[in-house]
Amino acid sequence: MTGEVRVQGSKNGALPLMTATVLIQGKTVLHNCPRITDIEAMADLLRTIGCKVAFDKNTITIDATHICDTHCPQKQVQAMRSSIMLLGPLLGRCKSVQMNRPGGCVIGERPTDIHEYALRRMNVEFVAEEDTITAYTEKLTGADICLPFPSVGATENVIMAAVTAEGTTRLSNAAIEPEIRLLCEFLRRAGAKIKGIGTPVLEITGVDVLREVTMSIMPDRIVAGTYLLAAAATGGQILLRDAPTEQMQSLISVLRRMGAGVFADKDMICMDAEGAKGPCEFLRTEVYPGFPTDLQSMLVAVLTTAEGESIVEETIFEGRFRIVSQLQKMGARIEETGNRVRISGVKKLRGGLLQAQELRGGAALVIAALAAEGESTVTGLPYIQRGYEDIVRDIRRLGGDIAYITGEQNVPV
Ligand code: UD1
Repeated sequence: MTGEVRVQGSKNGALPLMTATVLIQGKTVLHNCPRITDIEAMADLLRTIGCKVAFDKNTITIDATHICDTHCPQKQVQAMRSSIMLLGPLLGRCKSVQMNRPGGCVIGERPTDIHEYALRRMNVEFVAEEDTITAYTEKLTGADICLPFPSVGATENVIMAAVTAEGTTRLSNAAIEPEIRLLCEFLRRAGAKIKGIGTPVLEITGVDVLREVTMSIMPDRIVAGTYLLAAAATGGQILLRDAPTEQMQSLISVLRRMGAGVFADKDMICMDAEGAKGPCEFLRTEVYPGFPTDLQSMLVAVLTTAEGESIVEETIFEGRFRIVSQLQKMGARIEETGNRVRISGVKKLRGGLLQAQELRGGAALVIAALAAEGESTVTGLPYIQRGYEDIVRDIRRLGGDIAYITGEQNVPV
């Protein structure tokens, strides 16, 4: 593949900012928002509780002056797990929230115990119900909280609950993903008092009101990584513009170890993947700044044709090897044991009919299909559209041979 592409705005950066707007009695403007279905779903959910949401290309304006409902409807909540990120903001703004439990999904159980534990420490009561989360508070109060695991979503919920709580919250073992820093910077611009941004220990002192704010969403590190891995699987030279280079160091070092030439500037990455055939002796997914779980399936797809043996261990989500059976169908030599896969590289994969079952696994199948001999059809496009504005457009710009089948939810590669 040869070509260049501009990286879209970050899904996981935009979603918590959208929920945080609930704390602001006025208008929030977010630029560089990706036009993906998860963002549309969050916009729908915000509308159901009373926000006015308008899109103009990649700019979203959210007016949360009137919040009329703290009950998040089942349809929207089940469409998107990140609805859980409304817990903190709705408790902060309205003191109560009710939503269906988002429940598990293909990649894992995804419990909410850490969110609930942390919010309880802030004077929130949860009603014990199996399918519904009902929570209320007389007054959110600051607390010392140490998370048992640095959950990204729980860190975001605590921050959003704490910015207008009474007193000071000291949160330790907080997640330090770049999306958390973006959320803190957004809230600070709105008038929140947050110390320790970018570290695992945050100190947040509640303020009475937050003011209107405008912010630009950073580029999506997972989308940028997807395209680098697509190029690694197929060889060639690509250029990514507006890439969040600094946030991508773990992937860049893996690609270099595999033999790719990666030239990274502040917001541009150029990769020559001609020689990128080396295996990864051992790699495990980790919290930031380690190798992201969201890129694991795509890396596994690339390693199926590396020269040698690789072992990949998944430590964040228990169900993230769903693509293994499909890669085996394509001729990959890959064995799954517990939370590890062992891959012995083969010369070529064979194209075929592939079924996306979740967002990142779907993107990984597109990568496998691009690298395979012959034509493949990837079904389940709606999963991929949750996170990619237009994966077909971008991969074509990078020189990949890919097109939509008109009128069908498939991507033939
Ligand atoms: C976010 C990202 C997702 C990414 C993940 C890890 C968004 C919208 N999604 O998801 O793309 O893959 O971070 O980087 O930003 N856990 C519990 N109890 C809890 C919460 C989490 O056991 O209360 C577990 C989860 O089941 C999982 C692990 O902790 O095994 C990590 O989850 P978490 O960091 O919370 O991920 P999300 O915020 O859901």
